[in-house]
Amino acid sequence: MRIGVLTAGGDAPGLNAAIRAIGEMAIRDGHEVIGVANGWAGLAAEYAGFALSGESLRGVIGQGGTLLGTARFNLDKPAGGRERVLQAMDEHLDALVAIGGDGTQRISNWLAERGAPVVGVPKTLDNDLMGTDYCIGFDTAISIVTESLDRLYTTAASHHRVMVVETMGRATGWVAALGGLAGGADMIVIPEFPVTMEEIVTHLERRRKAGLAFSIVVVAEGVNLATLGGVEAGDLSSEGVGGVRLATRGVGQFVASQIESRGNFEVRTTVLGHLQRGGSPTAHDRIWATRVGAGAYEAVVAGKFGMIPVVRGDEVVLAPLATVAEGQRKVPREIFDLCALFF
Ligand code: F6P
Repeated sequence: MRIGVLTAGGDAPGLNAAIRAIGEMAIRDGHEVIGVANGWAGLAAEYAGFALSGESLRGVIGQGGTLLGTARFNLDKPAGGRERVLQAMDEHLDALVAIGGDGTQRISNWLAERGAPVVGVPKTLDNDLMGTDYCIGFDTAISIVTESLDRLYTTAASHHRVMVVETMGRATGWVAALGGLAGGADMIVIPEFPVTMEEIVTHLERRRKAGLAFSIVVVAEGVNLATLGGVEAGDLSSEGVGGVRLATRGVGQFVASQIESRGNFEVRTTVLGHLQRGGSPTAHDRIWATRVGAGAYEAVVAGKFGMIPVVRGDEVVLAPLATVAEGQRKVPREIFDLCALFF
């Protein structure tokens, strides 16, 4: 069999571990493995498949990024990209493993509905794919947030300042909430549980009155600015697949300036940005990316197309692609309440 593998959307630490698992298992069983360069672009634009060998997969488990390259490539603008993917698959591949988030898996599902032999792998640093407890990259991201908060804590304490830390998280606040919980955040602001600026400042003033002279406030980049009393800028740049580039909204900076002016605090802002996506994956991401990668390979050889290996509890199980293709998995109330216990 000629098995293609692609990574689409934003990169995430752990992608190479998944590619290695799929590639090494397939090569060992005598299959040909084709790396498709730069996500859907490698099928819909000029065909960009290249053979993967055992040699090219050696040592990659600990490397961040994706050895295949990735892109935020819009298959619908101009129209016809999806059809070109179907055609390229027909010409070049017997099966395709598409590693990506909800946008990628919506495409995978569309292709599978038209009979294409596609299997997905769940990846998003935002951790908000429906139907899976694990997404490649999330554990590394929250480890980076945690380490950052540990470092900011000491300088905040020394200067008696409020530190506002903006994390990634497009529609949901998993990175902010769990990174904030692990890093001992004094307040966490996420899209799922909106707060007003007044509530934030009142909370910080209460802490100051109680003798807690410094605070760390973690804000997810995707929180609603209007709820905080801000105004969305009209001409924000987009990511190429319709999404606004959230970091350009400056939510962290907005919250910081409001805390400063309303509460008379000395405030500094840190936008963690792509530091959360770069570098070496944690052991957890390497292990689970390997497990879901292996699950995808097994689904391919079993002919179980239109499926995606997901994690439920401690197990990898197969779910229909449609399960993860729609909507986002939100941070549940009980997790946020646990975070808030320590504010
Ligand atoms: O979708 C994952 C994500 O990490 C978001 O949290 C973030 O807004 C976005 O990617 C950034 O993407 P880019 O690398 O295109 O700037």
